Order: sequence, then C-alpha cells, then structure tokens
Amino acid sequence: MSVFAYRDGTLCAESVPLPEIAARFGTPCYVYSRAALEGAYRAFETALAGREDLICYAMKANSNIAILDLFARMGAGLDIVSGGELARGLAAGAAPGRIVFSGVGKSEAEIRAGLAAGIRCFNVESASELARIVRVADALGKRAPVSLRVNPDVDPRTHPYISTGLKENKFGVAYDEALALYREAARSPHLDVIGVGFHIGSQLAEVAPFVDALDRLLVLARALEREGIRLRHLDIGGGLGIRYREEQPPAVADYIAAMLERLAGRPFALLLEPGRALVGNAGILLTRVEYLKPGAPHNFAIVDAAMNDLMRPSLYDAWHDILPVARRSGALRRYEVVGPVCETGDFLGRDRDLAIAEGDLLAVMSAGAYGMSMSSNYNSRPRAPEVLVDGAAVHLIRSRETVESLFALERRLPGG
Ligand code: LLP
Repeated sequence: MSVFAYRDGTLCAESVPLPEIAARFGTPCYVYSRAALEGAYRAFETALAGREDLICYAMKANSNIAILDLFARMGAGLDIVSGGELARGLAAGAAPGRIVFSGVGKSEAEIRAGLAAGIRCFNVESASELARIVRVADALGKRAPVSLRVNPDVDPRTHPYISTGLKENKFGVAYDEALALYREAARSPHLDVIGVGFHIGSQLAEVAPFVDALDRLLVLARALEREGIRLRHLDIGGGLGIRYREEQPPAVADYIAAMLERLAGRPFALLLEPGRALVGNAGILLTRVEYLKPGAPHNFAIVDAAMNDLMRPSLYDAWHDILPVARRSGALRRYEVVGPVCETGDFLGRDRDLAIAEGDLLAVMSAGAYGMSMSSNYNSRPRAPEVLVDGAAVHLIRSRETVESLFALERRLPGG
C-alpha cells in the first residue's frame, strides 16, 4: 500500500493529513515519507542479501542532507557527479570509502577533492580524464582508485534525454577502446585499477537492456583477466524505472535476480547506483489552486507550484499523477494544471479530469526524484520547503527560501 493514501476522503502522508502540512509550512511544499524511503532501500538490500555489494545512492535524484543521512544510516554509499555533491555527501556523514565519483567532466579541483577525501573509486569516462587523474594523483603523491565507465552501446528504450549507453551519447569509454585504456591504466604507478561499470540510462522499464550491458561487460572483464588485470568490482549503475502512470517497471527483486544470475560464479563485488528507484515514489509536491480559468479550448487550473519547482513535465513531457487532497463530489472537468511562470511550457499536467475549486490543495505524485534537485529560482521564485514525515511526526528538512536570499550574492555597479 502506498504511504500516500486517503483517509476519510483526505490524502495523507503516512498518518499526517496533507492539509496540516500545508497549514504549517505553506505551499508549494515537497513532502517525503521516511517509511517509503526506507522501504525502497530495503527492497534492494533484501534482493542483494548474500552477495558482497554496495548500494551507492545516486544523490542527484534528491540530495537533501536528511535523506542522505537516512540512507547512510542504513549502510548506503553514494554516487556523486560533482565537487558540490562530494561536499554535501560528506557533510551528511557519508563514509568517503563508500563514495563513487561519476560524470563526464570532472575538473582538476574535483579530482583533487575526491583523492583528498579518500573516495572509493573514480568512474572514469574518457582517456583524457584518466590522464588528468594520473597527473593529479602524481602531484598529490597518491594512487587513485579507478574503474572505467564503459559505454556498452545498448538501447535502454527510454526517453532520449535520459538515455546514456548508446554510442552516440557523450557518456563512458567506447566499448572497443576500453581494453586498450585498461592496459594503459594498469601500467600506471598512480592508479589502482579496481573495477568496471556502466550506466545506460534512466527510467528503464525492462530488464533486458541491463542484462545485455552486463553481458558485454563480463566479456570485457574476461579479456582483462586473461591479461592479468583483475577487477574487484562491477558497477551496474542506476536506471531502474518507477511507476508514474501505467509503466510496469521490473520489481527490484526481479531486476537484481537477473543481474545476480549473470554474475554467478564471478568474483566481483557488485556496486549499484540507483537514484529514482530509491526516492521517486517517496515524495510528492503539495500545491494549492490559485485560480480556475475556464475557457476554450482549455480550462486552466493555475496552481502555486511551477516548472521551477518540478521541471520534469516541461523538460521531458513527463507524466505525474495529480490528486486532489480533499475529495469533493461534483462533476469532473478537464484541466491544464499550470504554474504562474511566464512560459507556455510551464505545466505540471495536461488534460487532467478533476473536481476542484479555487483554494483546493493538489498533490503532484512521484516527485521525490529529480524534483527538488532540479528546481530553480526562475521568475525569482524562492524554492519550496521540504518536509519528511515519519509516522505522525513531521520534520522540516529544508526551509522555504527567502526572496532576499535570491539576490544576496548580487551587486549593483559602482557609481550612479
Ligand atoms: N548513475 C549515473 C552515472 C547517472 O548518471 C544516473 C542518473 C544514475 C546513476 C541514477 O539513475 P536513476 O537510478 O535515477 O535512473 N533528470 C532525469 C533523470 C536523469 C538521470 C541522470 N543520471 C529525470 O528527471 O527523469
């Protein structure tokens, strides 16, 4: 059963009615459920039981410190993609030895910071990056632990903007070039070659592309073994989809079982980088209807959340269910649910059949992943607060931004 469910006609987060949260913290507001976060993590943990593994939460999905802390307490590591995420992860209490560093454009400063912190591994995405890591490690008198992120050239069959494992994508080392780069890396006194990995895309709805990618990497790993390059881990990235609407993504248990079956008898520790699957359905965006604007061809419901709060509908035409917080009787009407931002692309949902009145609360569902973390201040809109519900308790885990903070770093020109 979902942790977001109706009780006596009112939508609740665990046992807290959402109108209470709106009254206390205002809208728009992100609301997360601790039970849902922990449940999602446990599903991975249970499926992996008995195998040496490390679940490196892809913190780009939702990087609130409270959420990082919660996963760290459960034993998770982190997948990071910037110096900012490294600093944030360490501030949240993540163990450096459980952090892997992905991303196509690591700067020298970021590599230095990673080495200084003593992270578990750099997921290297190009020959030039490898050379840079060697230089930085040499200068610091350290050995850098590295794994190549290999682009296996498989089609994840997802939205083109979030597909990453095709050879036309910018990500990873080309499969055909990986062997030569491993040979070079293995010769360097400044590198510890410890793994291999892939990440082929996000919101995948099938297991087959993961299996194909894994099979290709296992072939590569065998070729490496023959040359005496023994890897300690294999990183299968993230990408498992969640249900937003009618998708039927594989259950975590089935996805992991398929991976483990392929890995049977192979000595690698298994690393994973799930993001969305851990947080996506653990959060909603709570918003209030400001105005109803009936008309032709569209009726508009203008709400107080916008594309700056949740970018996914505007950016990917992504679907998020939109539920009324208090069920009302009365005829359904078809609405475009839109925000106050001055863009035609500013919508949270199109063609939604709702019975609503001005002042009503709406819940934009499945907003725990890539919601707050992709938010912006466009139109000088302060970012929404984030609260985490734990049973009957409500914790504010990020305050609403103030308008003043939005221009605090700006300066007028001198004179005038
Ligand atoms: N590992 C790497 C190297 C990644 O680039 C990503 C996501 C993940 C792991 C986690 O993937 P997940 O398990 O969350 O699918 N903003 C888009 C998603 C972009 C994903 C980017 N990389 C969205 O809102 O759908």
